[in-house]
Order: sequence, then C-alpha cells, then structure tokens
Amino acid sequence: MFTYVVCHLLNHAFAVISIDAANAARIVFVSPWTNPVGTLVLTGASLTHISLALWTTYTRRSLRMPIWQWTQLTLGLSIPLLLVEHALATGGGILRVGLIPNYEYELAIFWYLAPYKGWMQFVLLVVAWSHASIGIHHWLKVKSWYPDWQIHLYGLAVVIPVMATLGYVAGGYEVLEKLKNPLWLIQVLKAIRYPGPEFDDQTRALRDYWMIGYTAVVGMVFLARQARIYIYGRKSGIRATYPSGRRVLIPKGASILETSRDGNIPHASVCGGRGRCSTCRVLILASEPGSLDPPGNVEKMVLEKLSLPDNVRLACQVHPKGNISCEPLLPPDVSAKEALSPGQYMHGREMNIAVMFADLRGFTKIAESKLPFDVVFMLNQYFQSMGIAIEDAGGRIDKFIGDGIMALFGVQDGTEDGANQALVAACEMSIRLKRINEQLKNDLDSPLRLGIGIHQGPVIVGTMGYGTATQITAIGDTVNTASRQGYRMNRSI
Ligand code: FES
Repeated sequence: MFTYVVCHLLNHAFAVISIDAANAARIVFVSPWTNPVGTLVLTGASLTHISLALWTTYTRRSLRMPIWQWTQLTLGLSIPLLLVEHALATGGGILRVGLIPNYEYELAIFWYLAPYKGWMQFVLLVVAWSHASIGIHHWLKVKSWYPDWQIHLYGLAVVIPVMATLGYVAGGYEVLEKLKNPLWLIQVLKAIRYPGPEFDDQTRALRDYWMIGYTAVVGMVFLARQARIYIYGRKSGIRATYPSGRRVLIPKGASILETSRDGNIPHASVCGGRGRCSTCRVLILASEPGSLDPPGNVEKMVLEKLSLPDNVRLACQVHPKGNISCEPLLPPDVSAKEALSPGQYMHGREMNIAVMFADLRGFTKIAESKLPFDVVFMLNQYFQSMGIAIEDAGGRIDKFIGDGIMALFGVQDGTEDGANQALVAACEMSIRLKRINEQLKNDLDSPLRLGIGIHQGPVIVGTMGYGTATQITAIGDTVNTASRQGYRMNRSI
C-alpha cells in the first residue's frame, strides 16, 4: 500500500513539468496498479490492512495507548472515508464503465467542477502520508541501522508530499488556463469516455452506501469490544504488584504492559506492544505457580537475542493467569536503540569481573603550581590516552574521579578474559604514561606517576544513576579493594 501511495505521489510531482509529463509518467507509476493483478493486490492489501486494524482494536483490552498509536489509528480509520469517492470515480470508473481517467480530467474536477473535492484530496494526502510515516517510523525505529538513516528518510518523508503538492498546484493552474477554451473540457470528457452525469450520480450513491456501511462496521467493532469486556468481565481478580508497592488489578486476559497502562504505571513500549523492541521488559520478582506461560516464539527470539535471564520477560507478551510481582527494567523514555544494544541497560546482576583503579600520584600538588587551563589540558590528554588503552584492551571506563579512573573488565567477556584484559590495559597504560611524560617534560618538574590497583571478584553490576547520569557501574567489596590498592599502593609506575 505504501508503495502505491509513493508511486501515486511521485506521479503527481511530474505535473510540476507539465500535465503531459504527468500523464506520460502514469505508465510507470499508475498502470501497474490498474491492471487486474495490480488492482487485486492493492484491494487485497487495503482490505487486509483495515481488517487487521479493526481486529486489533477489537481484541485490545485497554484503549489506553501512547498518543502516536491513537493518532495512527484515527488517521488510518479516516482514510477510507476520505478516499472512497475518488477511488470509486477513477478505479471504479475503469471497472464499471471503461473510463480512461487522466490528469486533465481529475484536475478539472478538483480545480473547477468541484473544488471541495480538491481540498478533500489535499486532506487525504496529509492524513494518509502522516499515517504511513508514523507506522513506518515505529516499525523501523527498532532496527539498529535506522538512526543513521533517519535523517535521510525524514527528508524523503517531507520531499515526496511537498513535490506532489507542487505538482498538483502547477497542474491545477495549467488546467485553469486550458479551461479558458470552452471546447477543451468537452474534448477531455470525450477522451476519457465520460459516460454522462448518471455516472456521477451512481458514484455518489455508491459513496454514500460505502460510507454508511464502513462507519457502521467501525462503530460495531468498538461496540463489540465494549460488549466483550462487559460479558467476560473487565477484571480478573488477580493483581500485578510493582516495586512502588502499587497493586493493579489485571484486566481479564491482559498483558503486563496493558495492566501497567490500566494502572497508569509508566512503562516503556517503543514498538507499541508488538514484541519487537524489548523496551517493555520486566523482571519477574515473584509469581504464583502456573501464572506465567513460557515465552512464545516472538518473545523467545527477543529474549535470546539479548541473552536475558529466565526471570526477565517482555511485558507486552506475557498474559498472567495468577498474581505476579514485577519490575519494569527500563525507564519509560528509553529508546529502542538503547534497549537493543547489548550492555546499554542491565538490571542488577552479580558478576565476577576485574575492577581497576588508576590514580595519578601527587597530581593535586602539581595542579596547584599550574594555570587552570594547563591542568585541564594535561588531564584531558592523560584521560584520552588511558581511555584508549583501557578500551582497546576490552575494558569499559566506569568513571573519572578527579584525576582517577575506574574501569571494569569482563562485563561482556567473562571472568578470565576480564582479568587478562585488565593486565594488558595496565601494561599499555604504563607505556602511554611514559609517552605523555616525554611530551610534557618541559612543563613538569618531575614525571607523572601512576598507581594502578586491580582486583577481581564478585560485584553487583547494573545500570544505576538518575536521568542523564545513568550508566552501568559496579558496586561491592571488590570495587573497594581495587580502589584501596589504586590509591594506596606504595609502588607506582
Ligand atoms: S513493547 Fe516492544 S517488545 Fe514489548
């Protein structure tokens, strides 16, 4: 459907050159859709799309949705109403009376015979394009490559409808010019094999039937949804308990995500509950026996991809059958990229890793005799050099504390590799410090000296902090021991 819309709009854009150019381009952009196979594919896709949207609406336990989902649904449901007359007059005209529509005919209607239809087409363009753009954005934003391409796709999302509108306006003015010749319109109607006003009457009648029928179906879907909730009971009597202590009654058959929405618990859901983004993941703290089904295929794929432990589930895919206690693991405003990048977010986990503390000996004294600018320059040079050594070895810089550095090794690669990485990093840091001392020998009374403490052992690793100061870090005795070694050891490089 989106391909059809893009073809249609690109075809309009050719009217910027001339109506003849737009008519010629129809062979490429429109004829694939007006042959029997193309018409069948397009009609099938449209009906499937509408049916799925209505079915999803019917099966929803809660209509509390993010604003983008509401916007997309509302825009999508209004498209058939805006489109129907145009579709019946052109596509329907081809099938019903062998009409051969062209740009002269359409633009004469929109700019002269029935200008309100022209405005309706403009509204349709905005509505359909916005609906498609929202859908595609939310479909693609869970893909790792999307952020790099996003700006280009945004550009296309603006350029295509703008070019189509410019073509529509340019073509409209061309038609108004041609209409100054009273015979021109008669020739156009003859060329398209216009059957007469009774064709328009039929089209209007069909449009009215369709609008009444469609509105009735949409209304019935919403009513049926309400009836289903009423008949089967809205609440199941079981509850989800959140870390804040809030207990929310789980609507019958609802997922944990729907329960959170029902209870106004902030809960991330970038993909809107389609099991694609993993941002809704929760830690199951406790559950009654038999209350959670094992992960289905969609959920399993995401959990395995991110190597999440068994007690982490996707809230949008789990429909509890008994009381549970759970904790949403990601902040409500997390992006899909952050959620899907291994190591970006971690719930607390005990791990055996190597922790390194590096401290510049006596740097406070050196700093006192230097200008602030020189101190910052020197430290940044030092941090950059040591940072490269740590990251090249496979470590993760945890934080810079004054002139000290804390780094973790083995968070991704495990205990043994972590220990080796820490030692490799320490050797490389000493080599790099010698180079820095060489470069700064004219600025320093004595060379910089570095104390490095490394200790391996159990720590709690997890994403901690608040707002922009949130990061993966480690806490525990191992960290304290490494810190003491780093700051106090007598020998230094
Ligand atoms: S909301 Fe995206 S996976 Fe659950």
